[in-house]
Amino acid sequence: MNLSLSNQVALVTGASSGLGFACAEGLAAQGASVVINYNSHAEPAEALAAKIISQGGQAIALGADVSKEDDVERLFEQTLAKFGALDILVANSGLQKDSPVGEMTLEQWNKVLEVNLTGQFLCARAALRQFRKQGSKRDVSRAIGKIIHMSSVHQIIPWGGHVNYAASKGGVDMLMRSIAQEIGGEKIRVNSVAPGAIATPINASSRAGDGTEKILKLVPYGRIGDPEDVANAVVWLASDLSDYVHGTTIFVDGGMSLYPGFQDNG
Ligand code: BGC
Repeated sequence: MNLSLSNQVALVTGASSGLGFACAEGLAAQGASVVINYNSHAEPAEALAAKIISQGGQAIALGADVSKEDDVERLFEQTLAKFGALDILVANSGLQKDSPVGEMTLEQWNKVLEVNLTGQFLCARAALRQFRKQGSKRDVSRAIGKIIHMSSVHQIIPWGGHVNYAASKGGVDMLMRSIAQEIGGEKIRVNSVAPGAIATPINASSRAGDGTEKILKLVPYGRIGDPEDVANAVVWLASDLSDYVHGTTIFVDGGMSLYPGFQDNG
């Protein structure tokens, strides 16, 4: 048994940049055919698809807003039309709309919940329906399908100034574990990856100036993560090497969730 994902089809949402981009690259490197979903930035998604194809892999870039039911249905239809099957979903799309809670608008609240939580529900539901249709006929992996949710350390670490984001990720944790509990008997594996501070566009502004130094005080392992750190965990969760891992969150955070403020007695 190995890490290989050859003959498997993976769909990664929000893959035109950051974590999703790295996950799509990582899955393709292990031989998966990948659907690189983007919302508004077609160009980097198409460039990644072209790169994967030029290296002998299979990929397609498809636009869809994961918070819209019709878009998600179309995304899955197009995936099936292109590759004929689906084996792996990485529900990654996510965004921040930061504001102190007293000033947070309903629009900021709704947008984050719609993309980060409702989007993950819609994609997981569509993947589950497809896995059920395929059943065990495909025989490319021990599970009939795998769902990997992109969460965050903020599924457990409260985050002032970001209550919409933290609430959405707390929701992702319960969404993931409840789905895992409900459908595990169908041989569909469901897990999350919870990144900490990773160098991606989502936190570029908080890393600017002395931001990185401040963030590093919260990371016992002493470095900001790379998108590949997260992709490596996602690839492992998608592979048969993790076949007995189900309903779990893997924290890829350099120890950020260890409450480093308590290192010196708090
Ligand atoms: C957020 C980043 C933040 C990190 C650690 C992530 O989920 O999207 O902006 O740097 O958590 O706080």
